[in-house]
Amino acid sequence: MSTPAADRIAAAWDRLDRAAASSRLTPILDRFAAEPDRLARLTVEAAGLTLDLAKQSWSLDGLDAVLELVRASGVEAARDGLFGGAIVNRSEGRAVLHSALRAPDGSDLHADGVPVSAEVEAGRHRMRALADGVRDGTIRGATGNAFKAILHIGIGGSDLGPRLVWEALKPLDPSIDLRFVANVDGAEIVQALTGLDPETTLVIAVSKTFTTLETLANAEAARDWLRAGLGEDGARLHFAAVSAAPERAVAFGVNPDRVFAFWDWVGGRFSIWSAVGLSCAVALGYDVFQRFLEGAAAMDRHFAQAPLEANAPVLLAGAHLFNRNGLGRAARAVVPYAQRLRLLPAFLQQLEMESNGKQTGTDGRPVARPTATVVFGDAGTNGQHAFFQLLHQGVDVIPVDLVGFAASDEGPADMHAKLTANLLAQAEALMIGRSEADVRAELTAKGLSPAEIDILAPQRTFPGNRPTSLILGERLSPETLGALLALYEHKTFVEGVIWGINSFDQWGVELGKTLAVRLLDELEGGSRRAHDPSTTALVARLAGAHR
Ligand code: F6P
Repeated sequence: MSTPAADRIAAAWDRLDRAAASSRLTPILDRFAAEPDRLARLTVEAAGLTLDLAKQSWSLDGLDAVLELVRASGVEAARDGLFGGAIVNRSEGRAVLHSALRAPDGSDLHADGVPVSAEVEAGRHRMRALADGVRDGTIRGATGNAFKAILHIGIGGSDLGPRLVWEALKPLDPSIDLRFVANVDGAEIVQALTGLDPETTLVIAVSKTFTTLETLANAEAARDWLRAGLGEDGARLHFAAVSAAPERAVAFGVNPDRVFAFWDWVGGRFSIWSAVGLSCAVALGYDVFQRFLEGAAAMDRHFAQAPLEANAPVLLAGAHLFNRNGLGRAARAVVPYAQRLRLLPAFLQQLEMESNGKQTGTDGRPVARPTATVVFGDAGTNGQHAFFQLLHQGVDVIPVDLVGFAASDEGPADMHAKLTANLLAQAEALMIGRSEADVRAELTAKGLSPAEIDILAPQRTFPGNRPTSLILGERLSPETLGALLALYEHKTFVEGVIWGINSFDQWGVELGKTLAVRLLDELEGGSRRAHDPSTTALVARLAGAHR
């Protein structure tokens, strides 16, 4: 339907397509000369992070096209709605207010008109009380011992954020042994419990719904382990739960004073800022967790206030859209040059692929443009020795997000410079490539025959012109980590608005869950159902074989 707003969006897409087509004509490297203010316009500062998008595929004309698309799509109004507690997640009738969880004390935020800030603060105080009590020994186990270990049980958004935060920040306080269990494969909990003593272990089961099969199975296994060591009453003192359905946690048998609630306006993959981060708050100390929240809050303020052309989440999203929609690039690598962020790609897989991996718009119609890409990655430099060959010379162009830090306190002083040199080298190599003429000259100088050079030189040529985004922080601190995760959250939101999808539901994961429940019944001897021939044969093969 043609309306002024729709026409403006269509015109913005046309402009982006034209800019993308012409961007193919000029290599990224050549743009620095052609666009003298390229570096200045494509470098922004936000909440302690520097974002360098100058090595991206877009021209400055492409940037302007993206900014027009952002304006035409109503990103600013959508952002205000998000922060204002409007029902942004319309398919589930919910506000989306993870930003309220990291807003300073004394805020006055509302979810669909209902005040939330006082409850958020009360929740934070309860988290701090548990964290302080466990850490100073005033909260102890059933046998009077202090807690030395925490077993965090959860999956998806109830696991990936806490696991990442702990891995990233544990050098700040490694005194508590925090372990994670997500998978319903019993191998994981067996391994996690190995070496733990029930007398000194606190189990924290985290599930927004408290219905998730994996988490309930692991919670039961952990409770049985506690009961075996401490008895029924003792086990209760060692078990806490976090949920947006606290009544279900109580029904499961958790003491009400050990149940930490959060709210349905917190999406699972956006929940690390809530009591879902409880195990991190205990293991790191609440002050560290508070600093993590403050880093994210600083990014919230930046996203809310910075002009679009200097707005880091908007620009990061824009570069991604230019690659995805303008240039048809269907994957993106994320490579943190920080071993402690090696779980970032997994976190972003859920954040981006669960949020924006959709083909139907909020209007119920097919989306007009391709949406989320495949996200993959690993820590640099490790990834360089695994998948970077494809990034440099593969047939497909795969944009790369590089994350790095200016300084680090860990390890011998020279190692961080080596790490950083690799980050810079990869970004440069991906952009400049290596010409065939250059390779031929080298091989000629080495005395190879023309026939050998004809075969070898093309194989050793790098096409270059492969885009990267760089996110740089001073150090991997609680603040920069909070800002980094909030940056990606808002990037994901901006993309969802432009694609016209609801980034906050996940209907696509439901069918598999339903079928698994039915198949479990069949595998355990229940009556067989009709399936496709392949599944029927497999059920016949596997029923009863699991033990
Ligand atoms: O995989 C789907 C999902 O609903 C995720 O969105 C969520 O983070 C995860 O399952 C875990 O859900 P819960 O926290 O309710 O156990």
